[in-house]
Order: sequence, then structure tokens, then C-alpha cells
Amino acid sequence: MQRFQIVSVAAMAASLMLVLPAGAQQSGTMQGSGMMGGLVMPRMDPVAGRHLFASKGCVVCHSINGVGGTDAPNLDASTMKMPMDPFDFAAKMWHGAPAMIAMQNNELGAQIQFTGQELADIIAFVHDPMEQKKFSEADIPESIKKHMEGD
Ligand code: HEC
Repeated sequence: MQRFQIVSVAAMAASLMLVLPAGAQQSGTMQGSGMMGGLVMPRMDPVAGRHLFASKGCVVCHSINGVGGTDAPNLDASTMKMPMDPFDFAAKMWHGAPAMIAMQNNELGAQIQFTGQELADIIAFVHDPMEQKKFSEADIPESIKKHMEGD
């Protein structure tokens, strides 16, 4: 019995070796290309974020500094967890994504697209009370304003 167990463990180990190389090779490749060292944090610019918050259309549903739609929670810095972890913010967006994307398709005609850099800038703006004080109707381009009328 004891002996049989040892043999079967050895057999399992052997069969694992047949399966493992592909996976092992993959993680080896990731380490090789510096997966950890290869990550970079983007520069986060709240001034660029102020413009993007309006021009990307977040403002159609979310308000900041009293400017913007009321269909979704306001994104005033005072309501944010501080100090911020930008990934927590991205996780909150992910959590709200189903409702948000359905509404975006409905109200803007498409899902909002952004680059990582653009999102980093928006997140900086959402957590910057000084920059938020400057946010006004004047920041909203006409192309976005037209989606806000009649709401
Ligand atoms: C068409 C409307 C709409 C647009 C445009 C929109 N959102 Fe939202 N957003 C929502 C709704 C509705 C929710 C709430 C979803 C839920 O509770 O399930 C939400 C939730 C969120 C949340 C989570 C809030 C919380 O307290 O949990 C964040 C963060 C967020 N949106 C950020 C953004 C950003 C940044 C943009 C622009 C890139 C954006 N949203 C554009 C409608 C929108």
C-alpha cells in the first residue's frame, strides 16, 4: 500500500512534468522580459484629467464641483478614499462597468474608450480638490454638451 502510494506519486510527478514545461516556460519568459521590473507607473496629470473628464464624456453622468450630470454618483475628491490607490479607483469603475457601459451606449451612442495614460490623468483629477475647484461649464466641449441637454 505504502509502496503503491509512492509509485503513484512518482507517476503523478512524471505526468506533471509533461504538462508543466509549457506553463513554466511562459512564466520564465515573463520574468525574462522583466515583468516586475518592466511595469511603469504613468505620470498622472490632474490638469489634463480635468479636460479629459469633460471631453471623454464622464461629465455627462458624473458631476464634479457641482458641474455635470446627476445620473451617477458624483466624483468629488471629498468623497474619495484618501490617500488614493489608483487601482482601487479602476476596480470601482470595473465594478460599475455593466451599468455604466449600458448607459454610455444609450446616452452617448458608444462605450467611452481611453488609454491608460488618459485614465491615469482622469484619476489624478478625481483625487485633486484644488484642480476640481477650477472645473466649470466652460470645460465642457459643445460635442459633449449636446448629450447633456434634455436630461
Ligand atoms: C452614461 C453615463 C456614464 C458615463 C458617461 C460615465 N459613467 Fe461612471 N457610472 C455611471 C453609473 C450609472 C455608475 C453607477 C454604476 C453602479 O452603481 O453599478 C457609474 C459608476 C462609476 C464609478 C464607481 C462609483 C462608485 O462610487 O462606486 C466610477 C469611479 C466611475 N463611474 C467613473 C467614471 C469615469 C472616470 C467616466 C469617464 C471616463 C465615467 N464614469 C463615465 C454612469 C456613467
